[in-house]
Amino acid sequence: MPVYGSEGAPGNVPVILAPMDGYSDLPFRKLCREYGSAMSYTEFVAVEAIRHGAKKALKMLDFDPSEQPQLSFQIFGPNESDIVEAAKRCEQMGAGIVDLNMGCSVPNVSGRGAGAGLLRDPAKIGRIFNAMSRALRIPVTGKIRIGWDAQSLNHVEVARVMQDNGAALIAVHGRTKEQKYTGHANWDAIAEVKQAVRIPVIGNGDVRRVEDIARMKAHTGCDGVMIARAAIGNPWIFSGRNREEVLLRDVTRLMRRHLEMNLRHYGDYGLILFRKYAARYIIGVPGAAELRRALVTAPSVDIFLDHLAGLESRADELDQQALEMRLRQPADPLTETLPEPSCAASRCELIPEALSVV
Ligand SMILES: Cc1cc2nc3c(=O)[nH]c(=O)nc-3n(C[C@H](O)[C@H](O)[C@H](O)COP(=O)(O)O)c2cc1C
Repeated sequence: MPVYGSEGAPGNVPVILAPMDGYSDLPFRKLCREYGSAMSYTEFVAVEAIRHGAKKALKMLDFDPSEQPQLSFQIFGPNESDIVEAAKRCEQMGAGIVDLNMGCSVPNVSGRGAGAGLLRDPAKIGRIFNAMSRALRIPVTGKIRIGWDAQSLNHVEVARVMQDNGAALIAVHGRTKEQKYTGHANWDAIAEVKQAVRIPVIGNGDVRRVEDIARMKAHTGCDGVMIARAAIGNPWIFSGRNREEVLLRDVTRLMRRHLEMNLRHYGDYGLILFRKYAARYIIGVPGAAELRRALVTAPSVDIFLDHLAGLESRADELDQQALEMRLRQPADPLTETLPEPSCAASRCELIPEALSVV
């Protein structure tokens, strides 16, 4: 399948918002697409939850028609027939692409043979892709890590197996399951995958700044660059602007819009879900710690917006202070506090609430 979106993109390569549990929901995906993300990946959704029609799972698969055709529903599970069944349901629900997660490292996913757990059984991956690609008319793709641990790197083998069994594209996070999010992403391994297969390869891992996009493309030859952590609260990266180039008044304008989209999508709960983005939008703003506390504890939308208005009234002064702070010490978006991918129980495990059928 072609990956569109290189024209005018930073690094002349399509740049893509990564699937992220708790983050790559419809409002945030839409914003990132507007800023230039070339594809949409939903948060990963358990195949069992799709089979049961769990309300929360289906909400995670809500999409906007403007996201088509490069709209991928990401699923995960350990069981071949459940995966194929869920993939068929995704096609019926309007997915443009179905992507299988083979990278999730959290123990209650990988430990039961789903996510990165699948990497231990390349033959099974082959069977799953064979069955999915026969059963679906839309492209089937996968996102992998480079192996279970440093002693069992098998990215090239897995990529070939996927290609030989009908996968249309592969995204590679250049870390092992054991690494979780520590150490460095291995871009050489991404290059090895690119060399080994004919299908498009999307590189992922440790893209922090706009400059890293072209660097990853040059290092790996990849057909697309995928960004996760550095995009949270920073959709500007898709339009080729680093966060510090964005004026505070543009940040608050986008925060208002994002919050509004969240409220429309989730109702009142949209404010709670917006907190984690708010904390990231204000990275680098002088006095961010105090402001973060105020924003994430604001009990109502009105109070939240009051805090934002306070910020806006000091925007120019704060931009100036931020510039001076940065000259002393630049921020790193990958080391700022981020909740570990939580794989919230409602998503990965079939708790009764998650199973309430629509
Ligand atoms: C909060 C969080 C949630 C994530 N959820 C998913 C997910 O649902 N599916 C997936 O394939 N990867 C998920 N990932 C992994 C990212 O897609 C990506 O592979 C990883 O963060 C490395 O990219 P980065 O260095 O740009 O952050 C998640 C990562 C984070 C930080």
